[in-house]
Amino acid sequence: MKISIYGTGYVGLIAGVCFANIGHKILCYDVDQERINNLKLGKSVLYEQDFDKLLANALEKDNIYFTTNIEAAACFSNIHMMCVGTPSLNDGSANLTYLFSAVENLVFHSTEPTLIIIKSTVPVGTSILISNKVKELLLERKEIVSIDVVSCPEFLAQGEAVHNFMHPNRIIIGSDNLLAFEKVREIYEPIVRSQKGEAPPVLCMSPSSAELSKYASNLFLACKISFMNELSRIAEFTGANITEVINGMVSDKRIGPAMSHPGCGFGGSCFPKDLKALIHQSEINNYTPQLLHAVLDVNINQKKYFIERVFSLFNFDVKNKTIAIWGLAFKPNTDDLRESISCELVEELLVGGAIVQAYDPVAGNNAKKKFQSFKNFIICKSKEEALDKADLLAVMTEWPEFFCIDTELLKHSMNSPILFDGRNMYDPQEIKKSGVSYFAVGIGYIPANSPETLSNDN
Ligand code: UGA
Repeated sequence: MKISIYGTGYVGLIAGVCFANIGHKILCYDVDQERINNLKLGKSVLYEQDFDKLLANALEKDNIYFTTNIEAAACFSNIHMMCVGTPSLNDGSANLTYLFSAVENLVFHSTEPTLIIIKSTVPVGTSILISNKVKELLLERKEIVSIDVVSCPEFLAQGEAVHNFMHPNRIIIGSDNLLAFEKVREIYEPIVRSQKGEAPPVLCMSPSSAELSKYASNLFLACKISFMNELSRIAEFTGANITEVINGMVSDKRIGPAMSHPGCGFGGSCFPKDLKALIHQSEINNYTPQLLHAVLDVNINQKKYFIERVFSLFNFDVKNKTIAIWGLAFKPNTDDLRESISCELVEELLVGGAIVQAYDPVAGNNAKKKFQSFKNFIICKSKEEALDKADLLAVMTEWPEFFCIDTELLKHSMNSPILFDGRNMYDPQEIKKSGVSYFAVGIGYIPANSPETLSNDN
């Protein structure tokens, strides 16, 4: 099938290369000329497992094309997937300008029956608004052509997006029109049929239900993380061990281990943005979503708490202190710095006059650009280099290579071997035994030379 995709961000590109690899003919449109030029040449524009390989394969098979010409995208097919960004505005609402502009351009060029599939995460009711806009535009053009609008949200987590796309848990199609639903189901048919185990359910629902399902899934996961983070604070002052408590909980199959790791808070381009968007949409409808507010507040407090504990170790004066940072990306297996808690800590340290020696396996270059105005920000080539004469090490992203920690090297290289574990990755007692002081949420601060008990004091 021929499909035009609008927007070459994460969702658009992953969908584009994956669909092209299962045999569909894809044309990806974007306004960013440089990005499109690079993609035409098969050059990597995003860090995502297997993406480069799939892009090369799709180009070689002549199944994927790239353009900045919207008319070409409009004429390429009669199936159009909207994957443009919907970033947060200052009031928390989603900015739908790019989406509406892509739809308007498309309708302007449409002369045949057309299917618009909305994949961008959008406020509930957007598909209906788009449908109405389409009718209005057609009326203005005095054009009689059928254009259906379907919501088909995407559930891709960065770092595992290709796998998520090729092995979905479910496919949600929001449409009131059976023919449109069938068309979208047909697009996904090869993916559904290729699953070795049980095929994922293809769920048909109303467009608004599909849109809310997307928010609901993300916010439920964010809620689970905030719950674990709140519990970690309670564990810290009650003396319970958060790791033991969570193990105790997640062995109940109804709770499960996924998304249950406490730490310095969640970041990324989805959870914080989606929370703000649904809170905004609720409040303009005179409903105060108390739980969503709490999920967001717990997250804000958790990152504040972690950052404050770092600063409190130096009596809130970090000037000329050297801080080693392992991990800058908001999560492992991505070079994305959006809403990264690590970057928030780095920025506060830099503003406070600390020298930051940071290492990330892939996000170093992005961080270099982000903090280019700071002379006291140094990107290191290795995790070992970052430790040199450091007064504290903060591990902020759980990259696999950080799980292996040489405490002897910490003692040898650092001015003072103090480890702040933002992702609860290490065994506190093992670290303490090795002569390194340790802090993690839910554990508290354990000075290396303290007796066996855990302490919350510095
Ligand atoms: C999230 C969802 O997981 C995807 O299903 C969804 O499709 C995507 O948003 C989206 O809306 O596009 P993503 O933001 O890429 O994916 O990353 P997650 O793996 O969900 O992690 C988000 C944040 O939560 C990260 O900062 C991570 O470190 C943190 N996290 C995750 C925890 O603090 N604890 C956990 O147990 C898991």
